[in-house]
Amino acid sequence: MDDLRDKYLTAIANAADEAALEDLRVQAVGKKGEVSLQMRELGKMTPEERQVAGPKLNALKDELNSALAAKKQALGDAALDERLKTEWLDVTLPGHRRRPGTIHPISQVTEEVTAIFADMGFSVAEGPQVESDWYNFDALNIPGHHPARAEMDTFYMHREEGDNRPPHVLRTHTSPVQIRSMQEHGAPIRVIAPGRVYRADYDMTHTPMFHQVEGLAIDRDISMANLKWCLEEFVKAFFEVDDVELRFRASHFPFTEPSAEVDIRCSWEGGTLKIGEGDDWLEILGSGMVHPHVLRSGNIDPDEWQGFAFGVGIDRIAMLKYGIPDLRAFFDSDLRWLRHYGFASLDVPTLHGGLSR
Ligand code: DAH
Repeated sequence: MDDLRDKYLTAIANAADEAALEDLRVQAVGKKGEVSLQMRELGKMTPEERQVAGPKLNALKDELNSALAAKKQALGDAALDERLKTEWLDVTLPGHRRRPGTIHPISQVTEEVTAIFADMGFSVAEGPQVESDWYNFDALNIPGHHPARAEMDTFYMHREEGDNRPPHVLRTHTSPVQIRSMQEHGAPIRVIAPGRVYRADYDMTHTPMFHQVEGLAIDRDISMANLKWCLEEFVKAFFEVDDVELRFRASHFPFTEPSAEVDIRCSWEGGTLKIGEGDDWLEILGSGMVHPHVLRSGNIDPDEWQGFAFGVGIDRIAMLKYGIPDLRAFFDSDLRWLRHYGFASLDVPTLHGGLSR
């Protein structure tokens, strides 16, 4: 029994891995192992012999079992140490640097415009991009035969034969939001409505989807003078210049009377645009006094209320302010372009903190 004990304790101590240890366990204390075979011999012994040998064999079995368990634990620890050594990782190394995303110039400029008009008491209104042709045209004093309908290169929504619902279009301008806002809030009202608009057109300065911001101010005695002041304040704040000269050019829009297109004084010296100086004029928006028909479409009584409206191309003023030459690049999703022209995500434009830094 002592030989058996020495043999297995040595073998267990020298076992190289868990597989070898398992073999030893089977050989020594398994069902047909050496110790178990010895136990079977007990039956052939005299009771006296058995009283001595029995407990000894049990003790041996226990001893071997605990030696096996201890070695198993030791082997497991060693294996873990080995793995930890090879899978070692320097947690103090800096992580992978991800390039933060940027704010698209259109979003930036929309925020800038919103901040400026919010400061003048305008709130932001929204309307659907799929619009009924009534809101997009008729309500704005553009009847079916009006040339403006054809001029706008409108996208019409598909309609099945026999579909009697009113025709819908992808809105060609943000002006229908004027009507929706008047209907919803009545007068007095002061809103801007930035958003996407659509026209079938594509070249350096036109994309089939682009952005406008509409403005509407209705009260009892709002005049062209208020319009002029508002737009001057807007242009100065937006282009971040102290002084700017605006030129109101008589124009025609079906939804305003009188109507004016607004140009700003600028120079193109050396190929770069400077706002507020020089001998050139640059058209930036359309505006006018809201037509009585339009007020009526918005359920507002034109004998009691009047006001102004304007529409600015957001993409256009973004190109001007940030010197972006090709409008189409705005919507190409080219990462290099976005990184170059994009804005830091935490740089929220405010009038006190600066619009663009
Ligand atoms: N809706 C016009 C356009 O898309 C822009 C416009 C002009 C809007 C004059 C107005 C306005 O509100 O008064 O070209």
